[in-house]
Amino acid sequence: MPDSHPAPATLASQRRVAASVGVDVARRHVFLCCDQTVPKCCDKARSLEAWAYLKRRLKELGLSERGGVLRTKANCLRVCEGGPVAVIYPEGTWYGGCDPEVLDRIIREHVIGGRPLADHVIEQNPLARPLDDVPRP
Ligand code: FES
Repeated sequence: MPDSHPAPATLASQRRVAASVGVDVARRHVFLCCDQTVPKCCDKARSLEAWAYLKRRLKELGLSERGGVLRTKANCLRVCEGGPVAVIYPEGTWYGGCDPEVLDRIIREHVIGGRPLADHVIEQNPLARPLDDVPRP
């Protein structure tokens, strides 16, 4: 059975990479449904355009890397309609219709300004709470 503990050199390398992408200074994390194996919420080309815009705009505004905003391309966020779909943490705010013009508003109004765009919010549920009040089936 392989040793489950990372080698110290691996851990040190992982920590350097994490710091270089801003894990230690992140205030928000944007996940965008994009480049899907099975495109359902929007076609793949549209999702790729949204992803390219998100990356470019965060960089232009100095929010990438150590600027406080992490971004992750998600294969599917399981809402699967009205996409591109995005979710932003820590608020747990889910958005539909995340084409470039909406992403621009999300970045300016929510990511920077802290005010979710009510007209595009699917659901909002911050995750940093205990599980004991979640009803079980
Ligand atoms: S394909 Fe986009 S949320 Fe599932």
